[in-house]
Amino acid sequence: MKGIILAGGLGTRLLPCTRVTNKHLLPVYDKPMIYYPLGTLVHAGIKEILIVSGKGHAGHFLELLGDGRDFGVKLSYTVQEDPGGIAQALGLAEDFADEGRIVVILGDNIVEDDIKDYIDNFEKQDKGAKLFLKEVPDPERFGVAEVRDGKIISIEEKPKQPKSNFAAIGIYMYDDKVFDVIKTLKPSVRGELEITDVNNFYVNQGIATYEILKGFWSDAGKFESLARASDFVRQKERPAA
Ligand code: TTP
Repeated sequence: MKGIILAGGLGTRLLPCTRVTNKHLLPVYDKPMIYYPLGTLVHAGIKEILIVSGKGHAGHFLELLGDGRDFGVKLSYTVQEDPGGIAQALGLAEDFADEGRIVVILGDNIVEDDIKDYIDNFEKQDKGAKLFLKEVPDPERFGVAEVRDGKIISIEEKPKQPKSNFAAIGIYMYDDKVFDVIKTLKPSVRGELEITDVNNFYVNQGIATYEILKGFWSDAGKFESLARASDFVRQKERPAA
């Protein structure tokens, strides 16, 4: 399976730090943010990875990560000209995916779990998608999944009365139909092609399975969560005596 890291977007919640650089190049403790989603894919055994970044920054990713040989993988790059949403960014990966299944990770997601077994499970799945959930104390801040019999039956964006404590996080596995689904999407009220709409397509077909992450997870897209992610990495690297 091939992997895709989505590292476009504007990163407005981290201004002014993102005024002249891309969010995913900012440090999470001792490494640029992009190293963490890259590490998640590399450790899971993914060998071919596409990085979708924003205009003006693609060269920086290339200089930082090169062709991937230092990580034992083959890296490719493409540019999302305008930040038209996560699903739009993913749509740029169609040729790269080459009609195969893909694992997608958002460039600001810091994940402790080894996802190798989850990839194996998805490869055994006949078709559809696999989404990733994390139990959180404040589900109303996230897309919340309602689950039954190993399937997701709904995802509600920031519900006032969440049906579970399971937030849908930024890892997604899709079959080769995902690009057809993206082509049917219309921009949301905020003018973006929404990954939630892609996921709901699979949910409505009854072909969206899930895994619940056991370890640490955070995005790093706000100063609060960036600090939380940095603290986690620091403590993991230098455990308290
Ligand atoms: P968001 O955090 O939702 O958006 P953003 O990165 O533009 O930040 P902000 O809301 O502060 O302006 O995006 C989550 C991840 O999805 C982000 O790390 C990169 C990726 N992404 C893209 O690749 N392209 C896009 O158009 C968007 C919106 C996000």
